Amino acid sequence: MKALVLSGGKGVRLRPFTYIMPKQLVPVANTPIISFVIGNIIKAGITDIGVIVTPQNRKKIEATILQSYADKADFTFIVQENPLGLPHAVKVARHFLEGEDFIMYLGDNLIGAEIGKFIQIYQEKEYDAFILLKKVKDPSIFGVAKIEGGRIIKLVEKPKEFISDLALVGIYIFSSQIIDAADNIKPSARGELEITDAISYLLKKGRKVGFHLLDKWWIDTGKKDDLLNANRLVLGQFVVEKKEAQIKDSDISGKV
Ligand code: TTP
Repeated sequence: MKALVLSGGKGVRLRPFTYIMPKQLVPVANTPIISFVIGNIIKAGITDIGVIVTPQNRKKIEATILQSYADKADFTFIVQENPLGLPHAVKVARHFLEGEDFIMYLGDNLIGAEIGKFIQIYQEKEYDAFILLKKVKDPSIFGVAKIEGGRIIKLVEKPKEFISDLALVGIYIFSSQIIDAADNIKPSARGELEITDAISYLLKKGRKVGFHLLDKWWIDTGKKDDLLNANRLVLGQFVVEKKEAQIKDSDISGKV
């Protein structure tokens, strides 16, 4: 099992932060987001990690990762010239993947769960692909999956009409079938290859696609409010004891 971390993209929604740093390096609880991603992957025992970068962010991403993890895993940095979608990143990484199974992890996604158990389910059930789903308030900004009879029956990227409130978390496990799928789909109206279309292609071909409803928190840190929420959640995990304090004229939220 290899890992492919997606750390390309434009980061438009996280401006102005992303004028000075790639969004995957924005700190949460004083730690770059990508460090949580890499740490989670290494904890699952994966030591062959490919990282998709842009020509612009390559140096910074590489330096940050290697500074903390060079002695814990092997890293291959793969430049994606243009952010043409998640399946496009898979195509760009095909030589690194060499037909092996891999976990694809979006470099700006944080979850409150370890990924080892998902890899175990994927392997035990001999799936061709495995996705994590999480119920969300506004499904129109995510890729979503409609489930019926315990099976995925439809996947849509940013649905205009409601089909489901189960969003695809940015962590997926794939066999090399996904490369074939990525080769056979066309860009969507926004000009990107969509991961929902690639997985739909696998379903159409009769491949085994599994899913798990995530019962832990998940944050896609692509926007400002999500980032603040991520800080609260992660810092909240460090709370070991409660102390009383008197505070005036201030606004406090979350665990402090
Ligand atoms: P997104 O948040 O979908 O895209 P983005 O980074 O371009 O953000 P924005 O819409 O604000 O401009 O990307 C999710 C993750 O996947 C993020 O870590 C960037 C990465 N990514 C790639 O590596 N290659 C790609 O082609 C795309 C679209 C995203």
